[in-house]
Amino acid sequence: MNSAISTERQGNVLIIVSDNPPVNALGQAVREGLQKGIEEAASDDSIEAIVIRCEGRTFFAGADITEFGKAPKGPSLPEVCDAIEASDKPVVAAIHGTALGGGCEVALACHYRVAVPSAKIGLPEVKLGLIPGAAGTQRLPRLVGAEAALPIVVIGDPISAKKAEHIGLLDKLVGENSLAEDAVEFVKRKIGQPVPRTSHGTANEDGVKDPQIFDNFRAKNGRKLRGFDAPNAAIEAVKAAGEMSFEDGVKKERELFTKLMTGTQSAAMRHYFFAERAANKIDDVPADTPLIPIKTVGIIGAGTMGGGIAMNFLSAGIKTVILEMKQEALDRGLGVIRKNYENTAKRGRMTTEQVEDAMGLLSGTLDYADLADCDLVIEAVYENMDVKKEVFAKLDSVVKQGAILASNTSYLNIDEIATATKRPEYVLGLHFFSPANIMKLLEIVRGDKTRDDVLATSMKLAKRIGKIAAVSGVCPGFIGNRMLSPRQQQANLLIMEGANYWDVDDVLLDFGFPMGPFQMGDLAGIDIGWHRDPSKVTTVREALCSVGRFGQKAGKGFYDYDEARNRTPSDEVKKIISDFAEKEGHKQRDISKEEIKERLLYPMVNEGAKILDEKMAQRASDIDVVWINGYGWPLYTGGPMFWADTVGLDNIVAGLEKHKLPVSDYLRKKAEAGEKFTR
Ligand code: 3HC
Repeated sequence: MNSAISTERQGNVLIIVSDNPPVNALGQAVREGLQKGIEEAASDDSIEAIVIRCEGRTFFAGADITEFGKAPKGPSLPEVCDAIEASDKPVVAAIHGTALGGGCEVALACHYRVAVPSAKIGLPEVKLGLIPGAAGTQRLPRLVGAEAALPIVVIGDPISAKKAEHIGLLDKLVGENSLAEDAVEFVKRKIGQPVPRTSHGTANEDGVKDPQIFDNFRAKNGRKLRGFDAPNAAIEAVKAAGEMSFEDGVKKERELFTKLMTGTQSAAMRHYFFAERAANKIDDVPADTPLIPIKTVGIIGAGTMGGGIAMNFLSAGIKTVILEMKQEALDRGLGVIRKNYENTAKRGRMTTEQVEDAMGLLSGTLDYADLADCDLVIEAVYENMDVKKEVFAKLDSVVKQGAILASNTSYLNIDEIATATKRPEYVLGLHFFSPANIMKLLEIVRGDKTRDDVLATSMKLAKRIGKIAAVSGVCPGFIGNRMLSPRQQQANLLIMEGANYWDVDDVLLDFGFPMGPFQMGDLAGIDIGWHRDPSKVTTVREALCSVGRFGQKAGKGFYDYDEARNRTPSDEVKKIISDFAEKEGHKQRDISKEEIKERLLYPMVNEGAKILDEKMAQRASDIDVVWINGYGWPLYTGGPMFWADTVGLDNIVAGLEKHKLPVSDYLRKKAEAGEKFTR
């Protein structure tokens, strides 16, 4: 056969085995091997049934993404799937691990599917800006119905084997440790029966009888899908499965697939797929660096941040101790954690036992000595260097040697914090984003002296608690907040120069951010950090506070809010801003949305270039990972650095110059050389 696929016989059953680490991606050799395996079975009269299974950690996890964009080499995956389905001898897919994308499509082309209970099955192509391209959008609805197929194809989250069995995607769950044998037994029993071909299935008629299914689905998920091209195409393809013959439906799917594959969104999302994985790797830290076992975590501060951070560890089954200064604050903090979990349970996303399990791992203390045995302590106290140093000095004196001491600071100098200890090599930054139990990003800040094992352990731990980590060097604001700062500066300047503040928000919203800076201000509360003296007005925010415009909670901030929290721009605020601008000597003028966009986003790219030049980020794609996961930068543009590449670095430089904004040497050099940040 070939190096990826082998066949073995068990009596009258031919077993086609794929062994293509790490995830059995369906590259050319695998496709060719599968096709040959089916041919071998067809041409051998002693074979009466076929099993397709995989070695290693998973069933086929999809098409080989590294082949995308290269000249295709046959056989294509649709051809292989058709060959499998056309077999007159029954074929069963024996699934373990994750049968994803093309892997799920291979399984759908088989006549039967069995899986171990721990398996997961799905069509995650939308997450790569695509739709399934090997008839998945046509076979799945024919097997399980349009209504059940929609979330799988359009949202792209894999489903459990149990759920897959429930909706008819799987024929049987088999023993966790006896997949190979059970699959053979299963398919033997099908010998002599007519083979069920998924493309002949009729379950998709539900979408014809009730076309409302599609509108309802769109209405329910509209917000989540805003801006993405692929989910709409996916809905269209599933709809086509009910309206067209299988052959025409497949043609329709191919048309939609090809259009997406050649578009910018899919290129951006494929970039992100590899970016997220690359971010896990630290160039000068060997992959086999021994890790520090983390069994107990200490958190200093039971406020919103500390509590949120603690929940990550509790949910991952790690013992957590929270320290506060006063009993009352501690009780409040622990109470909030319990309430958060209970709310999650009320929404059906946790059982009450799971709530109690998580809470059972939590303890609170007022005494630093109780942190002595922690393997990691994360400080989440007030952002003040002196306070942080004091905390670290105390930690250094009580926490056992070899434990990691981390700060959750969002901009302070980690190296300076580390000087408060006698073990700076065990100090680093673990910057969580609020709400810390929800937001995916963890910025890991590598100090000058941070040891390799401290870093490697933190990266691994991030994965364990479900975070996406990216490493930053020590610089003010690290990667994320450092790039936010020029955007905020421009936003403030733009409204002084006459831009409508709602246009500033809308430009970012239209670009794909969940909200703009002024909406954000209203949501967080404009009075945060306000000195509470209405007669002292030195900023627009203070001017708004002085007239009681504290934000959403007051029903008015930059915007006026109705009871449903819909925002309307306020004439009063526009006047406050223009009066303030006049007082400050700014001339106001009409400013186009194009100018707003360029002035908000291009300086961020410039800052990103400086971050790269100073080696504060290991690679441009790490910056994309930070901004997509921590700040809502739209995934379908690939992140700020990939997006800059698609705009063209020469255009970014020209735009910055046009608006008389600084251009870093690094950005200019790259633009002049016709280079890109990411490819
Ligand atoms: N093609 C090529 N390489 C792949 C791959 C794929 N489909 N899936 C994973 N890999 C690579 C990763 O890049 C990574 O490489 P690295 O070690 O060099 O960084 C390695 O395999 C291991 O992957 P993970 O680190 O992600 O391992 P996990 O165990 O955490 O996750 C997984 C495994 C759940 C399979 C995850 O890798 C995944 O979600 N993969 C993508 C699945 C997917 O999107 N499939 C659809 C592809 S598109 C398609 O099939 C089109 C078709 O309809 C025609």
